Amino acid sequence: MSVTDQSPPAPDPGADPAQAALHDRIAADSLTTRRDYLRIVATVSGGLAVGSVAVAGGVLHRHGDSDDPPAAKRVAAVLPRGQSVAFRFPGEDDRAVAVRLADGTLVGYSAICTHLACGVLWREDRGAEGELYCPCHEGVFDARTGEVTAGPPPRPLPKVLLVEEADGSVWAVATARSGESVKDAMCRQFADKRPDMAARMGCPAANAKPAERSERT
Ligand code: FES
Repeated sequence: MSVTDQSPPAPDPGADPAQAALHDRIAADSLTTRRDYLRIVATVSGGLAVGSVAVAGGVLHRHGDSDDPPAAKRVAAVLPRGQSVAFRFPGEDDRAVAVRLADGTLVGYSAICTHLACGVLWREDRGAEGELYCPCHEGVFDARTGEVTAGPPPRPLPKVLLVEEADGSVWAVATARSGESVKDAMCRQFADKRPDMAARMGCPAANAKPAERSERT
């Protein structure tokens, strides 16, 4: 697929305007700050859903870049529609799963059930567009949002934020806690490492830093 073909998905007309704006800012950032064009796809939901949501231009750096976020991890060379891949992120004990939904949306979650920590599985054959299913006690999570749709799990699945490179490779770059927005998760994890990006995303802490610095000078 060509770089041109990898343009970010247009925001869903029904999406929250703030989310769409975040998508636009990040997409623009990716075009202006990277050698290779990044299509960044959110894995997250929690309402941050532009179908799939762009999350982080400039988050994913190639090996050798001086400010590589240490946690970025390549999880698949490509991820076709309807398929999933299991991986560990952010630590080697942290089971996670990335799924490409039938409409092309890329989503990622912790694969540790929020009930009693059994492994959550992608089941394409369940529900309207597949489900994340915990076989221990029939827990079911919405594949698009991670929300609990059945069974005893008390909380949604925490999300793993994914980036899709121009070559189709999929990388895990950050996590979002249950109920945490993509923006808040990105700001929490990247405000210090990537203050330029954080400022473009509108992270409060990042925006406050220049003012604080100028007051001190
Ligand atoms: Fe997943 Fe109980 S451990 S439903």
